[in-house]
Amino acid sequence: MASHVNEPYGGELVNILVDEARAKELKEQSRDFPSWTLTARQLCDLELLSVGGFSPLKGFMGRADYEGVCKDMRLADGTLWPIPITLDVSAEVAEGLTVGDKLALRDPEGVMLAVITAEDIWQPDLAEEAKLVFGGNPEHPAVVHLQTQTNPVYIGGKVEALELARHYDNHEIRSTPAQLREKFAALSWRNIVAFQTRNPMHRAHQEITFRAARELEANLLIHPVVGKTKPGDVDHYTRVRCYRGVLKHYPHNTVQLSLLPLAMRMAGPREALWHALIRKNYGCSHFIVGRDHAGPGSDSSGTAFYGPYDAQELFTKHEDEMGIKMVPFKMMVYVPDEDAYVPIDEVAEGRETKSLSGTDLRDRLEEGREIPAWFSFPEIVDELRRTYPPRSSQGFTVLFTGLPSSGKSTLANVLMSKLLEIGGRPVTLLDGDLVRKHLSSELTFSKEHRDLNIRRIGWVASEITKNGGIAVCAPIAPYDAVRKEMREMHKGLGGFFIVHVSTPVEVCEQRDRKGLYAKARAGIIKEFTGISDPYEIPEDAELAYDTIELSSEEAVQEIMLYLEKQGFIGAEQN
Ligand code: PPS
Repeated sequence: MASHVNEPYGGELVNILVDEARAKELKEQSRDFPSWTLTARQLCDLELLSVGGFSPLKGFMGRADYEGVCKDMRLADGTLWPIPITLDVSAEVAEGLTVGDKLALRDPEGVMLAVITAEDIWQPDLAEEAKLVFGGNPEHPAVVHLQTQTNPVYIGGKVEALELARHYDNHEIRSTPAQLREKFAALSWRNIVAFQTRNPMHRAHQEITFRAARELEANLLIHPVVGKTKPGDVDHYTRVRCYRGVLKHYPHNTVQLSLLPLAMRMAGPREALWHALIRKNYGCSHFIVGRDHAGPGSDSSGTAFYGPYDAQELFTKHEDEMGIKMVPFKMMVYVPDEDAYVPIDEVAEGRETKSLSGTDLRDRLEEGREIPAWFSFPEIVDELRRTYPPRSSQGFTVLFTGLPSSGKSTLANVLMSKLLEIGGRPVTLLDGDLVRKHLSSELTFSKEHRDLNIRRIGWVASEITKNGGIAVCAPIAPYDAVRKEMREMHKGLGGFFIVHVSTPVEVCEQRDRKGLYAKARAGIIKEFTGISDPYEIPEDAELAYDTIELSSEEAVQEIMLYLEKQGFIGAEQN
């Protein structure tokens, strides 16, 4: 039976996966091929090339296609294509390669996923690409990527794929274009409207997609991107649980959920066209384009990278040629009087409207505050709360830093006891001496080794923090840069606080609990912090105490009050 599912872009679904015999042959020959380990973005691009998601492309773009796409959004043969799909490699790999050579494309474990036959090898003008494709704003994430990437050479050519990248999650909803088309045909779906997203879906999104499907008398494909999205986005595991939760808010048998392994570029209007062409390859007839589609928002001066409806305008210009129709949507807002979501331009004048920004949602999650029922569905909120627990259930690290015998260990022990007394989270003590015994026994006190020691402590502490525990660290940590590295390691995982134990060196020396100052003075111990080795005072410490002014218990009491104020010790701990 002939399928009436929308035809692929260019008329035919590209299939560059080779048969077994050719795969065997390529594997045998590959001993002589140079290799390239694919970056995260290239892995996604290769996967979509391999399954025909980028039809009619059969490989990474050659120079003429690339330049045409950058300048006019057109391949050399005139076909509309808005985004460069290029293979950027290091100068070393490019050097050994001439036109006609084959290059093995490997995943990070070394598995050869594909082979490219080099047809073009050239050094692109990345600044020009940044300007033409992304608008050139130096803060645009794709421009930052182009400016900082270290692979200056592009290789263009046909690709032969041996196998697809391996994914171990959500198998049953990772369909290729061919599989999805088959499913649509089996369901007798013809009018299919695709919804692209990189965020969890809330009521507004459900409303948009439901309206679109109803108005078009179409079925709906929820097709979220699970490849690379914008840094800081909700991880795709959490999002997929949310999408599964939202499915039950549609009529039975009207919607499919499938995951798209796309590496987004956040290219706004151009990206909207690209998204639609990809969805055409997956069999969709319509594509939803909302406000600021695939735009990265605003730069640090508050200027938007793209106008809110630029994507819709560009789409209109090319809609006929693309063979997939746009379903444009204005921003949806909640109107309490009607208990409904309404496009902002349809709200009657004077009517109260409500909306919640992404930042607002994050803050509410972080602070354990209510997320209103008009904004989302309970099962979505539950999922997000599991991934973003309030601060009072998040992990954190306290780094005590200071001279030998300054009182770090005592403070760390008192703090640990107080935290254990409250209970609720496991506490790990990473004291300087203990770490040197168990984790860093081979290290000396050179700057290099001290930094390595702090990096190890930082890594362990960040893992503890990530998993909701508390790490109390008490090394000397004399160098500022590596302390900052440690702070950086904790970004997005939980809390991180530096407490400078600022007891003056004279007092530490007087105490000399282990007799080490005396040995350092006598020259028996070299490179001794405070005597013959530097200690850089932290300017970025959240707290500082010397143990002359305050007793250890008093200082720890202040630390506890500080943690409480920051929300890391909350009501449920008492
Ligand atoms: S570092 O710089 O952070 O790696 O140092 P750390 O691992 O915390 O040091 C742990 C203890 O080693 C003792 N010790 C020395 N400290 C400084 N300089 C030298 N050369 C040295 N040799 C041995 C010192 O007692 C440290 O313990 P604390 O707890 O600071 O008194």
